[in-house]
Amino acid sequence: MLGDSLLLHLAGEYGTPLFVYDGDLMVERYRDLFGFIPYPKLEIRYAMKANYNPGLLKLLLEAGAGLDTVSPGEVFFALKLGFPRERIIYTANNMTDAEFEQVLSTGVTMNIGSLSRLAKIAEQHPGATLCLRFNPDVCDGDNAKTMTGGDLTKFGILLDAVDEVKALVKKGGLHVVGLHEHTGSGLQHAESVFRSMKNLMAIATQENFPELQFLDFGGGFKVPYRPDEHRIDYVAMGAEITRIFEDFCKSYGRKLAMYFEPGKYMAAESGLLLTEVNTIKHNRSRVIAGCDSGFPQLIRPVLYNAYHHIRNLSNPDGKKQIYDVCGNICETGDRFAEQRELPEIREYDILAIENAGAYCYSMGGIYNLRPMPAEVVISQGRVIMERRRQSVEEMTQQILSECMEK
Ligand code: LLP
Repeated sequence: MLGDSLLLHLAGEYGTPLFVYDGDLMVERYRDLFGFIPYPKLEIRYAMKANYNPGLLKLLLEAGAGLDTVSPGEVFFALKLGFPRERIIYTANNMTDAEFEQVLSTGVTMNIGSLSRLAKIAEQHPGATLCLRFNPDVCDGDNAKTMTGGDLTKFGILLDAVDEVKALVKKGGLHVVGLHEHTGSGLQHAESVFRSMKNLMAIATQENFPELQFLDFGGGFKVPYRPDEHRIDYVAMGAEITRIFEDFCKSYGRKLAMYFEPGKYMAAESGLLLTEVNTIKHNRSRVIAGCDSGFPQLIRPVLYNAYHHIRNLSNPDGKKQIYDVCGNICETGDRFAEQRELPEIREYDILAIENAGAYCYSMGGIYNLRPMPAEVVISQGRVIMERRRQSVEEMTQQILSECMEK
């Protein structure tokens, strides 16, 4: 991981708030997966929604990774960066006809998650080749908003609907080359991964889908966010995944490719948000450390009640005190941490918010008209890509240039 003195140096050089990414750690996480899951036809399609920083994506491209994309914007971005279309899968949710046509024309494999879209394809694009997304009927994830399996979610086709699917496939002469499921993000139990795999495999028979080339089991591998949180034993889990899949291939009669689409697992721990404290306020019952970033730049604590570990880089040995670490946005809920014990925080101290590599910048926005932070990617001890922060003037110019008075 990146050393504190380097982080302080970067905060000084680029200013805060600043996202810093350890590109080598991300590539290491990618490579680790091949050790954990020793199946020869394993392919990893990084879920670029977690973090689309081009510096990180280029490192993954060089390392051989593919991508999971969820919008025409992501597909376009991936192709522009040079990802071959065969290494990209497109799993849109509630896509429009226009979006469908737009991505179809790129030749990227489409993953279809509704009977209604499948019916339209059978009608309008007979003979098309595609992947089908099923709801694995397993509910797991680190919070209710990111669980994607089970009755309450909008994702995928129900497993019970396999006969209707087969009828549509037959009607349109469609070629189903892959089946997909995604159970949720931050899966708490290895058992959920196994159960989802088995539920999908139960319908992935020669009789139902004779042309399969791959099964895609989505993402969701969890990483610890709290210092005392245990790390899942991925060696044991990967061995079981491999065993289950090899058994399946025997019964299917052919060795298929196995895809996973991790986002959080590869990106979360690779990133930090550096923010400077500019105000210490002693309210009656609380000490507030006010920072120069806010929830539009790192929304997970507010949106999911997620814990992000915070370190005081400027005063790591200071006397421990309890703080509310707050942002600079005009909302009471704008807190990175509530009642958190931290080494004494002084004005101008630099805090590092950990696990900020996944779903932080990518979920960001400019609420209160504060431009998003700059980003730097470090590899082999040097900055290999910087994305500068928009100035207030540029942001204003951009907004006004998109508007036309009528
Ligand atoms: N594949 C599909 C079809 C997905 O919908 C997702 C995540 C992934 C793969 C990657 O999941 P991961 O490995 O990153 O858990 N914003 C939330 C997470 C949302 C995940 C959405 N879909 C968070 O910050 O926790």
